Amino acid sequence: MTNPGRDSAGSRREFLRQGSLFMAGAAALGAKVPVVHAAEDNTIRLALIGCGNRGAGAVANALNTYQQGPIKLYAVADLEINRSNLLVAALEKQYGNEIDVPEERKFLGFDAYKQAIDILRPGDIAMCTTRAYVRPVHVEYAVSKGINVFMEKPFASDPMGLHRMLRAGEEAEKKGIKIAAGLQCRHSPARKALIDKIQSGEMGELQYIRANRLTSRNWMRDMGEASNSLREKLKLSKTTLMLAVSGNMV
Ligand SMILES: NC(=O)c1ccc[n+]([C@@H]2O[C@H](COP(=O)([O-])OP(=O)(O)OC[C@H]3O[C@@H](n4cnc5c(N)ncnc54)[C@H](O)[C@@H]3O)[C@@H](O)[C@H]2O)c1
Repeated sequence: MTNPGRDSAGSRREFLRQGSLFMAGAAALGAKVPVVHAAEDNTIRLALIGCGNRGAGAVANALNTYQQGPIKLYAVADLEINRSNLLVAALEKQYGNEIDVPEERKFLGFDAYKQAIDILRPGDIAMCTTRAYVRPVHVEYAVSKGINVFMEKPFASDPMGLHRMLRAGEEAEKKGIKIAAGLQCRHSPARKALIDKIQSGEMGELQYIRANRLTSRNWMRDMGEASNSLREKLKLSKTTLMLAVSGNMV
């Protein structure tokens, strides 16, 4: 099956020649693509590590950049084969040929990330969307193999992990590899403009910053009298409660 309307994607080389920006996932991988595919075809291959909800969303985001050049999901890695199967089947329905993941490229287990990354080529992308506990290990490995990274937040679950991530970032910079983070706030022009104003001193010396994310989510509705009851609050999700208690919506 071919996805209608997606055949017009130009070749990756043509795209690079035009000097446009290449975007992966919800985020830009950077202002330039430093590594041009050495292989005969210019299709960017994605290896998804962590086949959960966000993984599916990130792949969809990446595939929706098809107008900027050919791109496909090429391998998946997870601890549970059911997760991989469900994700691949769902994406196949929506994206057809752009999901090119036969059984032999569904890798399983704690070392699956290595197998998925090892079959990529320079310029391809490892999408690191497991939970954060193991993210630095996956990102480090991708960078060591010369593979670009899209990663979800949080970036690590402890200070040691964050240090590893910083080192991986330095190595990536030296090698001209791009690491993009899925935290949508990082790609908001409005937030960037605000941060510029803070950093330039235009807003004076700030003593305290509090950020609230205002959305129409369930927990934002008017709860009336129930808003005074802890029991009612407990009906909300754990995350929501945590955010409500900390007052921190970032
Ligand atoms: N930026 C955003 O807006 C946004 C939104 C939702 C979630 N997230 C983040 O994305 C990440 C994933 O969230 P999710 O909801 O998809 O989680 P999930 O639990 O649904 O999916 C994680 C998947 O990773 C797999 N996995 C776990 N350990 C693994 C390992 N060592 N190797 C391979 N696979 C492994 C699990 O089996 C599971 O299928 C989290 O860090 C979450 O905070 C970000």
